[in-house]
Amino acid sequence: MTVSVLFVCLGNICRSPTAEAVFRERVIAAGLEEKIRIDSAGTGDWHIGRAPDPRTREAAARRGYQMDSLRARQVGQQDFYEFDVVLAMDNANLADLQAMQPADVNVTLGRFLDYSTAASVKEVPDPYYGGEDGFDRVLDLIEGGADGLLDALRERL
Ligand code: 4NP
Repeated sequence: MTVSVLFVCLGNICRSPTAEAVFRERVIAAGLEEKIRIDSAGTGDWHIGRAPDPRTREAAARRGYQMDSLRARQVGQQDFYEFDVVLAMDNANLADLQAMQPADVNVTLGRFLDYSTAASVKEVPDPYYGGEDGFDRVLDLIEGGADGLLDALRERL
């Protein structure tokens, strides 16, 4: 049994690629890279083809996560057929995904932080227009979500 997970935010240059990189690191550390497929995408199209935001990459690199090879793409209807689990970073992302979800799919669609046992908030705040500390806050929240998600997915494998 394998499982595929897609992380989704607005631009696919800050939060969802961070979730992809952090979760991949956790999955590799657990020896499950053959069992869990991971990707990320954005609901918007502004940054298609771009590497993650430099502030995101720097904050991630300080914690040992490598994001330089990731490139932004836009989520599409085909993703609902190709992924088992689609996880939104905030409520707006979730509403956008619910609006585009085809009727006949069998996908688990939800919020990433609903899997976190550490976070008191359920949304990863958009750091794009904020200060530098927003990027560390994103990482803190995502690390908590990644641990909880890995525990939840182990039960599916
Ligand atoms: P992300 O952050 O959704 O975490 O990738 C954003 C990146 C870009 C924009 C908004 C949010 N933007 O408006 O261009």
